[in-house]
Amino acid sequence: MKKLKVKVPATTANLGAGFDTFGLALTLYNEFEVEEYDGVVIQTVPENKFLEIPENNLFVQVLKYACEKRGKTFHGAKVKQITNVPVARGLGSSATAIVAAILISAAVSKTPLTDEYFFDIAYKFEPHPDNLLPAWKGGFVTALVEDGKTYYQQIDFPEDIKAVVAIPQLELSTEKARQVLPKDIPLKDGIFNVQRVALFLAALQNKDYSVLKVAMEDKFHQPYRKQLIPGFDDVVSAAYDNGAIGASLSGAGSTILALATDNFEKIGSSMVQAFEKNGLKAEYKVLDIDKRGAELTILE
Ligand code: HSE
Repeated sequence: MKKLKVKVPATTANLGAGFDTFGLALTLYNEFEVEEYDGVVIQTVPENKFLEIPENNLFVQVLKYACEKRGKTFHGAKVKQITNVPVARGLGSSATAIVAAILISAAVSKTPLTDEYFFDIAYKFEPHPDNLLPAWKGGFVTALVEDGKTYYQQIDFPEDIKAVVAIPQLELSTEKARQVLPKDIPLKDGIFNVQRVALFLAALQNKDYSVLKVAMEDKFHQPYRKQLIPGFDDVVSAAYDNGAIGASLSGAGSTILALATDNFEKIGSSMVQAFEKNGLKAEYKVLDIDKRGAELTILE
């Protein structure tokens, strides 16, 4: 086993009311190819000089950590990193690097890839199972962590729904987007979100999309985070005006997610226009729900 490749999907977390709970894998992928090597050499596609410095490269850092955790010295690796998931936009780019490195470390060391092994390493780098799990397992996932143990379930997601993501040229770190959140929330806001999470799940199960707009409202994070994203309300309105069945901030932002069964291009371009009206350049992508999760291939 000399050369391995892992392909990991982007994710969109929260889906409105399911803050720190729901995550969905999308058909947009980062790829990581690794060969045994003495020393670290990183090639990035598209070229990103910052990520070619090992200390800045999360994938390499996780690989090194996983190796040293097993009591081995990390001698290096030749890495080719193909990045399609935009960084710091709420599409789980860090999770792709973490998941890829863990899968490779397990394969190389012939360690069974248990939940324990996975989360033990993953949480050292990112405490968000709502991104990590869909990136690893694919599909729609609900998760929580209690006393260090992660509880999760994969849930069927309707095949006829696509994700239209409007990605502005605005980097927003999760850290910054969490700093604006209140420490406590009033009971009525808790009730508001619990009711919507339940409605969201039931609507998906029953395929009654007429209630998704209400089900994706939220009082936990979006009202606070939207101040960091110029045009948030306009972009969400544009999505609904053009046929979206649901819309929310994607993860911690800055991307805005619309769910739709039709009119995908119209929804995407209207969201981009709404961002542009608010002074932000943006692009949109129409994506399906990824069901396979991270895939490891042995190349040589
Ligand atoms: N649920 C997390 C948040 C996801 O919204 O902060 C972070 O990627």
